[in-house]
Formats: sequence, structure tokens, C-alpha cells
Amino acid sequence: MRHLNPTLYEVIDEWFKELPHDYEVKKEGNTRDNLHNTQEQIVACLVEQFPMSYRQSYEVYCDLFKQREILSTYEALDTINVLALATGSGGDVFGLIHACERFFKGKKINIFSVEGNEDALQSQTNLFKHYVSVNVIHNDVQLTPILTVLEAGLGRLKGALQQQCFKPYGIEKFDVIQGFKWMNERSIRGWFHCYDFYLFLNQHLFPNRIAVWLEEADLRSIHRSDHEIALRAVREYAMYCRRFQGKNQLTALTPTPCIARHLNGKSQECRGCLGCYYEVEACVKLAHQKSYRWQSQSVFVMKFVSGPLGQQLAKWLQDEEVGYQTSSIDDLPHFCTLDAKTEVKRQANAFVLGTLTREEG
Ligand SMILES: C[S@@+](CC[C@H](N)C(=O)[O-])C[C@H]1O[C@@H](n2cnc3c(N)ncnc32)[C@H](O)[C@@H]1O
Repeated sequence: MRHLNPTLYEVIDEWFKELPHDYEVKKEGNTRDNLHNTQEQIVACLVEQFPMSYRQSYEVYCDLFKQREILSTYEALDTINVLALATGSGGDVFGLIHACERFFKGKKINIFSVEGNEDALQSQTNLFKHYVSVNVIHNDVQLTPILTVLEAGLGRLKGALQQQCFKPYGIEKFDVIQGFKWMNERSIRGWFHCYDFYLFLNQHLFPNRIAVWLEEADLRSIHRSDHEIALRAVREYAMYCRRFQGKNQLTALTPTPCIARHLNGKSQECRGCLGCYYEVEACVKLAHQKSYRWQSQSVFVMKFVSGPLGQQLAKWLQDEEVGYQTSSIDDLPHFCTLDAKTEVKRQANAFVLGTLTREEG
């Protein structure tokens, strides 16, 4: 399955054609300051970012649902309640819906989509209406937009969830939580700690459920914050685990060797590392292109599983002989084992669970 849902692109194409001819789509659609985007900037993001986010989200969820134990947990649910943070026009939300279409039929899927920019949220709602009106959807998907600006401590978000989600829907916690490309946004960067996000996930995710956090992370990026996110994320996850030792319900499965070394007291083996990411290639059609083309983006993905299931899957990832590819700078891949002293016998991607099974574990 290479091509994304082409019907959405017809809509985006129409909006794109309404932009002034000299509009700087590439520049406007690639900033880290999107909260106050104008309608034109939102269309620029739809052109530049939406297809990649869609594809990346689809890939991430397929990797998770391909795990037999995760799939059977979700198959047993009639309703899947999803919380998606800072969703913009919803590239990540549509990727999730698409992945659910591949793995499930007849489920009720409630997506509570939180975004601080009213126009972006409106464009997401419009795209969603189009998506469900022209596609044969095998699940009953409902999108509930929640207009809220995320801020320190997430107090305002918790209030909004109480009013618009927990009370009216009788929900206590979520079955999936996701946040794509948001922690480096100008409105958040600097005061919001990954640590607080882990706490939030721990409090709001049911046991044996999944959560995803994905950021653009490229050492060659013009945005300095992109260089640092991987290191911050892993360091603060280790801090969080130390603090909640024993009571910790949340297990991060990727990036596999970095997490393992930090939790096993071997973080000194990571000294000198500038950060880890991997390049996701997607064959997508951008609005100004006539045909599908390969695009590439470097991303950092943390895949979480809560409760005993998370701990079980983490154990199956503890293969000392696997060298995990953690970065690829100037075409030079770097491979890390769980313990730097162990020689690489096999190779795997540090961000992808792949064919993890009970037998192989
Ligand atoms: C780079 S876009 C990512 C959109 C989407 N998650 C994706 O992957 O395609 C970042 C989004 O975060 C939103 N955002 C930025 N700061 C925010 C805040 N403090 N509260 C809520 N949303 C915020 C922006 O409006 C924008 O839509």
C-alpha cells in the first residue's frame, strides 16, 4: 500500500489553487511556529507537511498493530477512545484512521482531537467530513474537535477533557494517545518537559494500551530544537522511570538501545551521541506535483505500551546481539547494541518493532 487516500488531495488541491501564485509555500509550510497560522499558512502546511504526517502515522500504527498481542488487545474492544494532541489539519489523525481500517472492522472509534488553532481544527473537520463521505469506512469513526491551547502542566487540557470528553462520553481514560510534531512548537518549547508528557500518559492511558510520540529530528535541520529532542526525550524518560520505579505503568519500546542503556545504568555508553533518528521515506503526492514521488523526513518516534503488556514486549526486545540503526548522517548508518561491549550479529531499526513475536523473543 503505497498511495495514500487520493480523495483528500482533491480537496487540498482546490485550496492550494486559491493561494496567490507567488505564495512561499515551502517556507510558510515548514516552520516550528504554527499556533497562530493564517488560513494561507494552514494550506501551506497541508501541502508540505500533511502527506508526510499521514504516512508516518500510518506506518507507526501498522508496526504496533502487527504485534499479535497488541492487535488482540484492541480486537477485544468494541470502542476505541483516542486522544490526539496538537493535530493541526490532522495528517496524523487520518494516518491512524487509515491504519485502523486495515486492521479492524465494525469498531466504534472516538477521536478527541485537541488543537489550539481554530482554523486548522476547522480544516481538519472539513477534511474528515469529506473523508467519511467519499470512502467506504468499515469502522464507525467519530471526530470530536477540542479547541484548546496546551500549556505548562496541561491544566487547561485536563479541564477541557473533563467538560468535552470525560463527562459527556463517560470516559475515564484513553485507549490510544498520540502527539505528532508538537513538542518543538514555539508556543511549547522551553517550558514544556517531555517528563510532564510521560506523567500525563501514565495517568490517562488504560493499562495494556499504546501511545505514540513523534517529532521531526534531523541533525541537519535549520531548527536547532530538532537536534536536541531525541536526547531530551530519552534522558527525561530515564528520570521519569527512576522516579516512578515500581509504580511505572508506561514502557517506552523505542528507540530500543537508547532506552535500554539509560535504564540499565549504561548511559555513559551514549556519551558523544548527538541524538538518534531515522529517515522515513514515503511515496506521496504533494499538492503542486502531478505524480507520486518519494519524500524523506528524519523523525524520532517513541512507541509506548502501558501496563504488563508493555513490560512483556520490552523483554522480547532485549536481544543483546542486535545492532540497532540509530542514525544515518551523510549515508553513514550507526549501529548500537543494548550493551556497547557486545558485538553486532544482526541488524534492526531502533524505532521499528518489526516482527517481534513470542517465539523470537
Ligand atoms: C507541526 S504541526 C503538526 C500537526 C499534526 N500533529 C501533524 O503531525 O501533522 C503543529 C501543530 O501544533 C499546534 N500547536 C502549536 N502550539 C500549540 C499549543 N500550545 N496548543 C495546542 N496546539 C498547538 C499548531 O497549531 C499546529 O497545528
